[in-house]
Amino acid sequence: MSIKIHPDAITALRTFSLPEKIGFGSTISPVMMDCEYKDGNWGELEMVPYGPLTLSPTCKVFHYAQEIFEGLKAYRINNKGPFLFRHIENFKRFNQSATRMAIPELPEEIFMKAVEGITAYSADFIPGESGSSLYIRPFIIATEENLGIKPSAKYRFMVIASPSASYFSSGSLKVLIERHNARAFTGGTGAAKTGGNYAASLSSSVKAAKLGYMNTLWLDAENSKYIEEMSGMNFFAVVNGALVTPKLTDTILAGITRNSIITLAKNLNIPLKEETINIDSLIESIKLGECSEAFACGTAAIITPIELFGEDDGTTYKLKHPIGPISKSLKENLLAIQEGRMEGPEGWIKTINPATY
Ligand code: COI
Repeated sequence: MSIKIHPDAITALRTFSLPEKIGFGSTISPVMMDCEYKDGNWGELEMVPYGPLTLSPTCKVFHYAQEIFEGLKAYRINNKGPFLFRHIENFKRFNQSATRMAIPELPEEIFMKAVEGITAYSADFIPGESGSSLYIRPFIIATEENLGIKPSAKYRFMVIASPSASYFSSGSLKVLIERHNARAFTGGTGAAKTGGNYAASLSSSVKAAKLGYMNTLWLDAENSKYIEEMSGMNFFAVVNGALVTPKLTDTILAGITRNSIITLAKNLNIPLKEETINIDSLIESIKLGECSEAFACGTAAIITPIELFGEDDGTTYKLKHPIGPISKSLKENLLAIQEGRMEGPEGWIKTINPATY
């Protein structure tokens, strides 16, 4: 299978240059991948110039949020690479999300060609400082023009890419414990990477920002007691020297960074527990000094330490280490593998050769 290249895409690539300040997710590669599903089949994959889409206001995605997405990164530090990190895992999760949202599965070949292709064509625009990367965003939207509530008969699979610096500009996070709203519930869509889960987190983000926090820690919907995840990231703490993270349920997104940290922790002989974490027990162990570190992790966030947790009423619980030794060592190891400075477990890295595209 080959990618059809629109002639304007080549012109767009030739005339593009990176702005001085790139930020996260706001500088976009001048090309994008596009593939349409209709009449029961995925069609040809095309690379076109990045630009606005023309879509009817009746497209189902605008009304019923039938959509899924992924987030992954390509690295090209000191002109080594580009390296894609565990993108097969993103492909698998993409189709798991598709099934949950009644979207037809995407063939592996189309996903891989699109992701590897955009990496190859964007290679010259991948920033070279450690911690920065090409953030790649594959997504599928429901495009059937009809207001009936049923799965769309038409879809667009697209991949855009953003040369990006780190997601968080601050070194550590102040996190609001959300004791009122819930992000996900048993039997819902919490484990799927679909826009509605993120939309559901936004009013809490507004509240958090007003109170001086930077992110939300979500608890289970039934009891408001057990830690699930952050808004768009998984959660880890270090308690009595052991790494703990909530065990996966259908209300938690199975993060690829989360999974990579678990593997690295095992390799580094850091004791690890995947278990139910009661927020009040965690607060108690922070007060006692037993919980010394906590961090958020995700493709975008990598590993971002948490310096304090807080409540709506302004009560805060400070961690012993704003940036602790275990978080630091895991982050250094993960980045070294992603950026090609250290050999990782088999199959984690694929080198893309732009000359072959
Ligand atoms: C990612 O880490 O890729 C995400 O999808 C999270 C988002 C907050 C950028």
